[in-house]
Amino acid sequence: MKHYMKHYGVLPDMFVIEGCKAGGHLGFTKEELPEGTAKSNDEILKEVLEVAGDIPVFVAGGVFDGGDMAHYCMAGAKGVQIATRFIATEECDADEVFKQAIVNATEEDIRIIKSPVGMPARAINSPLLKRLDEGGTFPALRCSGCLTACPKNDSIPYCISRALIAAVQRDWENGLFFTGSNAYRVDKIVSVAQLIDELMQEYEHCLKVR
Ligand SMILES: Cc1cc2nc3c(=O)[nH]c(=O)nc-3n(C[C@H](O)[C@H](O)[C@H](O)COP(=O)(O)O)c2cc1C
Repeated sequence: MKHYMKHYGVLPDMFVIEGCKAGGHLGFTKEELPEGTAKSNDEILKEVLEVAGDIPVFVAGGVFDGGDMAHYCMAGAKGVQIATRFIATEECDADEVFKQAIVNATEEDIRIIKSPVGMPARAINSPLLKRLDEGGTFPALRCSGCLTACPKNDSIPYCISRALIAAVQRDWENGLFFTGSNAYRVDKIVSVAQLIDELMQEYEHCLKVR
C-alpha cells in the first residue's frame, strides 16, 4: 500500500487473499504445503482485516460452497473469489479435456509441484507430471522469454508457458492442468447460472441458520 501510494498516489480498490488451497502458483513455501504449516484463510483474513481499513477484502483458495462464502463473509470478508468450480461450467472457455480432468480427479490426483519459476504450484496429476516424476525433461524448442522469474536455461525441466498452453489446447499428454485443492469435490459440469444459483441459495440458507 505504501509503494502504491508513493508511486501512483492510489490505494488498492480491494484485496484478494489467495490462501494455500488455491490453484496454480502459490505464495507459500514447499514446507508449508499442501496444508502443513501454512496459515489458514481464516488466520490470513484476520491479519489483513487489521490493516485494510475501509478497503474490501475477498477470500480465495478452496472456497467451495455457499457455506464457505457465508463463513468468510461473517468473518469480515466482503466477498470471495472462486476459480476451480467455474472451470467445470459449460461457459468456461477451457477445453473439454480440462473440464473432464476436474470432474474425474480424485483427492490423490491433486498435487503440489515445483514450477520452473521456482514456486510451488497445485495441479492435477497428468501424463506430463508422471513423465517429470520419472526424470523426464522437456525444454522449450524456442524460448519466448515470457516470465522474468524463469531461469530460461537447462536447469528447468519443462517450459511452463508451453505446458499451460497445451492444457487449453486439448493436449492431455503435454498439458499442465492447474487446479485448486477442492477439484476432487466437483462431480459434474453445470451452467454458470446453475452454479451461482446453488451457491447463493446455500449462502442465504447459512446466513439464516447461523
Ligand atoms: C487454472 C488456474 C489458473 C490460475 N491462474 C492464476 C494466475 O495466473 N494468477 C493468479 O493470481 N491466480 C491464478 N489462479 C488462482 C485463482 O485466481 C484463484 O484465486 C484460486 O484458484 C481460487 O481458489 P479455488 O480454485 O480453490 O477456487 C489460477 C487458478 C486456476 C485453477
